[in-house]
Amino acid sequence: MADDPTSQANYTEIATEHVSFKWTIDFANQKIAGSATHDLRVLKDDIGEVIFDTADLVLDSVEVEGKSSSYEVKPKHPIMGSALHIPLPSGLKSGSLIKATIKYETTKECTALQWLAKEQTQGKSFPYLFSQCQPIYARAMAPVQDSPSVKIKYSAEVTSILPALMSAIRQSPPSDGPAHDGKVIGKDAVTYIYHQPIPIPSYLIAIAAGNVVYRPFPRLPGKEWTCGIWSEPELIEAAYWEFSEDTARFLASAEDIVVPYRFGVYDLLVLPPSFPYGGMENACLTFLTPTLLAGDRTLVDVIAHELTHSWFGNGVTHAHASHFWLNEGWTTYIERLLLQVLHSPAERGFSFIIGNKALKDDLEMYVDRPKYQRLVIEFEKGEDPDDAYSRIPYDKGANLILHLERTLGGLDVFLPYVRDYVSTFMGKSITTQQWKSHLYGYYERNGGAEKIKALDSIDWEAWFYGEGLELPVKMEYDSSLAESAYKLAERWDSSRSVEISKLAFQANDLDAFSSTQKVVFLERLQSYKPLPSSHIEHLASLYKVSSTHNAEIRLRFYQFSLADPSSPAAQKYAAEAADWVIGGGSGMVVGRMKFCRDVFRAVFKVNKDLAINAFQKEKNSFHPIARKLIEKDLKLSS
Ligand code: BES
Ligand code: ZN
Repeated sequence: MADDPTSQANYTEIATEHVSFKWTIDFANQKIAGSATHDLRVLKDDIGEVIFDTADLVLDSVEVEGKSSSYEVKPKHPIMGSALHIPLPSGLKSGSLIKATIKYETTKECTALQWLAKEQTQGKSFPYLFSQCQPIYARAMAPVQDSPSVKIKYSAEVTSILPALMSAIRQSPPSDGPAHDGKVIGKDAVTYIYHQPIPIPSYLIAIAAGNVVYRPFPRLPGKEWTCGIWSEPELIEAAYWEFSEDTARFLASAEDIVVPYRFGVYDLLVLPPSFPYGGMENACLTFLTPTLLAGDRTLVDVIAHELTHSWFGNGVTHAHASHFWLNEGWTTYIERLLLQVLHSPAERGFSFIIGNKALKDDLEMYVDRPKYQRLVIEFEKGEDPDDAYSRIPYDKGANLILHLERTLGGLDVFLPYVRDYVSTFMGKSITTQQWKSHLYGYYERNGGAEKIKALDSIDWEAWFYGEGLELPVKMEYDSSLAESAYKLAERWDSSRSVEISKLAFQANDLDAFSSTQKVVFLERLQSYKPLPSSHIEHLASLYKVSSTHNAEIRLRFYQFSLADPSSPAAQKYAAEAADWVIGGGSGMVVGRMKFCRDVFRAVFKVNKDLAINAFQKEKNSFHPIARKLIEKDLKLSS
């Protein structure tokens, strides 16, 4: 059986090469109904069946090579879902191709899809649908071999009364033509045709449908690819402004570091606020949280991150959950290199400093489950990868690569290796061991004994499998952007016994700070013993950090003010914080898990009932994945 601990598919025996979806989006009944036709390559002689992953699908019929076939849906595994077994004709030879069509519908239990009522959108006039398939939810949207070790091309014909977007190249109607092909939005059905000619892992299959419009970004001379942005009409101006400066420049710069962009189109889609991530690198179409629209272009690092996945993840893919760090660690490392190239060297260090705080928090969160403190995690079959999701693969991973860069002699000798790495494994799915073997092989060919000695000086065991709260090596970063934030935090710390009326702080203390410096200021404050409540309230009223639209700053303020659960400040701000993430009861929750899970966890420590009641009130407005994980955080489920 195949290695992927999260899949029941027999993809080492027979694997999908292409899948064709014919879907109708049924907003009234909140389901997708249609079919998936797989072109499968037989990889071993005489296999008796093909096994797909599914979760909560209702099957209507199965055809193999155009003929009606029997099938069996096995009982549901709580994490992996129900394996779909389809018998195949006997005597199949390795190398042959076979076609299987499954007609099915999604159900209310579908964890991949969130169906939003019109009230939960910006425009309040039309419903909305979007998917989130990473890590293991594609199987809830369609029967697939749901492992990143399987790379598939896909085509799709999606009939919808609202414009439909997919993680592929649109064939028709044209993106820059009239919205919804000139038909009546919300009423007339239009069939959208997409094609993804590059094999991608199933977790990158994505769909969104709603009242969305497109604005192309200016083209860069000499570039074949196009970039642009989708959002509801109410946000398109703000979204275009936030990202039009940087997106194409970042993509072009990443091409200079690695190899040319292969997907032809790189579009962004700003989703409604319940989207559970900051960004998701769906092929050709990155999904984004609207919390990035800060109005000051300070959160473009998320764009740098998601577009970097075009090479690390969407090009070279982790073989399965144990090697997830290859996607995120590499992407985070390159994201920060882009910040250095396009913004300033100091920004790279600054980003590592911010990452380290998040890393430290998450390492502490897992003190009782030290296995998840590892970079390379050995999952048991059927273990939930979402339980292990944290900043650890991102920041331990990025630090390992940075440590390698420095140990091997800096960017001049490291970047040619990066290019070789990507070119070698482009289109493949690999393990940590394959990555490491290539690294050694490359430096044997380019540098020899001296470089191998450098590589041997790395404590691989500690980096891959080390537990505990520290990195194996003490890392130094450019801290020039952090200094002013540290100084101000220090002043607050040393004034803790001064009466409020005698404090010399002023509303304009933060004026010269970027948003990120404000974040670092508040994080630094958290590293001290909590300030008296009177000081916290004074700080909030001076700096307006509890009412800012910048969610990054607001999150840090709440974490800081809730740090001493029994204090009056914690009582006061816990209620505010909970109200913030449930959108004040408007249905517009702050669904990005980085914000809502952290806030619910912090509020839970202050007042369990407050956290639980707030969540219960708006539970159904959260994405099914966020709902599941918040329920665990609040001990409502295990
Ligand atoms: N691919 C991830 C999101 C993801 C990972 C979803 C695992 C489901 C399972 C995406 O690229 C990501 O890392 N998003 C970050 C953005 C950030 C690090 C800039 C996020 O959402 O916070
Ligand atoms: Zn990522």
